[in-house]
Amino acid sequence: MTAREDADHDSAAAPEIDTCRPSIARVYDYWLGGKDNFAADRDEAERLLKVYPQLPELAKENRQFQTRAITWLAAKGVRQFLDIGSGLPTGRNTHEVAQDADSSCRIVYVDNDPVVMAHARALLAGPGVGAVHGDLGDPASILANPDVLNLIRPDEPTALILGLVLHFSSTRTPPGRSRPHSPAGSPHQEATS
Ligand SMILES: C[S@@+](CC[C@H](N)C(=O)[O-])C[C@H]1O[C@@H](n2cnc3c(N)ncnc32)[C@H](O)[C@@H]1O
Repeated sequence: MTAREDADHDSAAAPEIDTCRPSIARVYDYWLGGKDNFAADRDEAERLLKVYPQLPELAKENRQFQTRAITWLAAKGVRQFLDIGSGLPTGRNTHEVAQDADSSCRIVYVDNDPVVMAHARALLAGPGVGAVHGDLGDPASILANPDVLNLIRPDEPTALILGLVLHFSSTRTPPGRSRPHSPAGSPHQEATS
């Protein structure tokens, strides 16, 4: 059952998920044409569209940019991808793009939204793929997470993907705080609009 069906027809949503408050992950899913959103998310998405009608186009362009960037990074030999603020699974996800380029690529998805994590663990499983709950404002915890260390080798270049997430973070922690742990040659891909 999708989140939309769950919200509209079933009151048994997980207790830690407040479906009455919009979540940027689900608002973004709505702009991308997804179905994993609730009424509060759709209302917020529509409210923002009145202010900036190009948002769905921007979201789609962002996904296309990420596909191009990941493909380029894999062609350059990067085999590890840490996707923080990964969002709900959508058309072509990071691991699909990276592993299409090279099947040995390893990817960890990180997000602080429990709905995103539930979907990621269910839909983004596979060899070389992990999903962990984590917050951009606490990079040390992310990098110390055993599920991250299981896939991301600290001595190898790692692509840090921060796609449309920096402006949603409530923390002032600069993302570069996570970079001292990155080995030389680690690229940092960021999309902020
Ligand atoms: C607009 S979506 C972008 C999704 C994906 N990165 C993309 O570019 O298509 C932003 C995502 O960042 C997540 N997020 C927001 N603040 C975060 C934080 N402080 N730490 C981790 N994830 C965060 C949200 O839950 C959401 O899934």
